[in-house]
Amino acid sequence: MGAIRVLESSVANQIAAGEVIERPASVVKELVENALDAGASRVEVVVDGGGVERILVTDDGSGLGREDAVMAFERHATSKIRSAADLASIQSYGFRGEALPSIASVSRVVLTTSAGEPQGTRVRLSAGRVLAVEPAAHPRGVTISVEGLFFNAPARRKFLRAPATETTRIASILARMAAVSPGIAFSLKSGGRVLAAWPAAADYRERVAQIVGHRDAAMMLGVDRRSGPLRVSGLASAPSLSRSTSTDEHLFVNGRPIRDRRILHAVQQAYATLLPRGRYPVVYLFLAIPAGQVDVNVHPAKAEVRFLRPREVHDLVRQALLGTLGVARPFYGLAPGATGVAEPAALDRLPPAGSLQTGPPAGVVVDGPFPAGSLRQEPPEAPDPGSAGRLFEGVALAPLAQFRDTYILASAPDGLVILDQHAAHERVLYERFLAESRSGGLLTQKLLFPITVDVTPAERLAFDECHESLGALGFSIAPFGETTLVVDEIPSLVPDGAVEGLVRQLLSEVMEWRPADGMDQLRHRIVATAACHAAVRARHPLDAPRMSAIVNDLLGTALPMTCPHGRPVLLRLTIDRLEKEFRRT
Ligand SMILES: Nc1ncnc2c1ncn2[C@@H]1O[C@H](COP(=O)(O)OP(=O)(O)OP(=O)(O)O)[C@@H](O)[C@H]1O
Ligand SMILES: [Mg+2]
Repeated sequence: MGAIRVLESSVANQIAAGEVIERPASVVKELVENALDAGASRVEVVVDGGGVERILVTDDGSGLGREDAVMAFERHATSKIRSAADLASIQSYGFRGEALPSIASVSRVVLTTSAGEPQGTRVRLSAGRVLAVEPAAHPRGVTISVEGLFFNAPARRKFLRAPATETTRIASILARMAAVSPGIAFSLKSGGRVLAAWPAAADYRERVAQIVGHRDAAMMLGVDRRSGPLRVSGLASAPSLSRSTSTDEHLFVNGRPIRDRRILHAVQQAYATLLPRGRYPVVYLFLAIPAGQVDVNVHPAKAEVRFLRPREVHDLVRQALLGTLGVARPFYGLAPGATGVAEPAALDRLPPAGSLQTGPPAGVVVDGPFPAGSLRQEPPEAPDPGSAGRLFEGVALAPLAQFRDTYILASAPDGLVILDQHAAHERVLYERFLAESRSGGLLTQKLLFPITVDVTPAERLAFDECHESLGALGFSIAPFGETTLVVDEIPSLVPDGAVEGLVRQLLSEVMEWRPADGMDQLRHRIVATAACHAAVRARHPLDAPRMSAIVNDLLGTALPMTCPHGRPVLLRLTIDRLEKEFRRT
């Protein structure tokens, strides 16, 4: 007998698992893909211990009959393609028949299912071997539990990160899957906490808003462009919204989440003159491309694809973004073609270049935030104004008028300044609030009539996590039963008219906060949210004294260029620039 032997199937599956299943998030991706392929309208994911202890995915899709439930764990067993020709026009996520046998080979799996018949089926496996097949009750659909991932593959387990990190990866892969299926409801729980609950949404915009939060979503612009049979659509952030890493650049090809260096390059090119170095946009780009022009069968985890004409895809993405972002740019956007994107816009930032220690690079364009950042990334608190000194020491700004009840136009020594009244006031209140709480001089007001707020279980959990911090910041809130909170004292800065909305917003901010972010970050979120609710709104008329007060208070803040959420507060049109535009020089 020769030395060469065909491997036993459990060994072969474990080898395949090495490619397909890298970490708990890969398991979640495969199981969610299967649920979507099965036509589910609801996908629920529960994880424990970063997904290593347990991953549970439940769907209400087609489910499996008894025979198929066992067959599903055979290598290369799939219901999704029949012949090699089908590979050229794949409409489903799955096509290899590898995921379930791979997962089962490195864990303990229990699959419970029914295809709608009265008696369902339960299949138990360990390390790829079927232990039992028994009748079980289950509504139409599948529940699959994966426990002890890599229990028999210690080399794999060594490469896993801390449970919190693995959970974050799971959350982000689920968010990607959810982004491309807005009509399907998704939820994610970890260790009993609700990390995501996204009900069926009407469209991509609504779904993305569920994922990134309404505030960030409001800073995203629609993208839609075609070129021949190719189309790219989706959402891309205005330059006022950016991140410190590229992890929020999401690409999908025919509904599949992928990474592609070339497309990321196109994105980077489109934003090159709009974002400071080291800042990345938030994009959700959906590419539709004829099946014949893309090969999806090139990567073990299907995380990459190969394009027949990559250059065309690259150019389409770049053009689509340039079109969208051009509209976003004030003044120049109004005259398409008048200036290329490479041309910095006419407005610059206060104060004059050179006088700032930490200013944006010279020539940074109008929409670039400074310091760029989102709620998640802003340094938790403003530097102590006492030691840092004021950015605008000695600069005078005189309000001239209010524009559209939203912007304050002011004259500066070297030009015209446009301030967003809400953002400016928010910055002022944020710093005042922090300063008061630091000095122990926080003013609070007792409510004449305590306000009750009904909360969901998830909000209640968030409350338990933050009630001490809220107390320290002047909010006296107590639980009343499991689903009600009673508010009887709030900081004086907060108008008492909007308490319920504020409390709700505070809890949703806390839900996004992770203990790993630190207590300063929690405090920042609370104070920023309170400042936002207390600040004067857009489309609100202001008289001259009120405008002066906001502008002067802003000049006294430590970080007057951005609001606490990282959005720009003011734009500048310099006299130099005006004179050039009017050909006076
Ligand atoms: N949640 C589910 N609901 C209904 N059927 C399912 C579900 N999960 C798996 N199946 C069935 O089990 C089969 C095997 O699943 P598996 O993920 O291993 O392979 P696949 O999805 O066909 O291909 P791939 O390996 O590319 O994911 C599927 O073809 C499908 O028929
Ligand atoms: Mg599959």
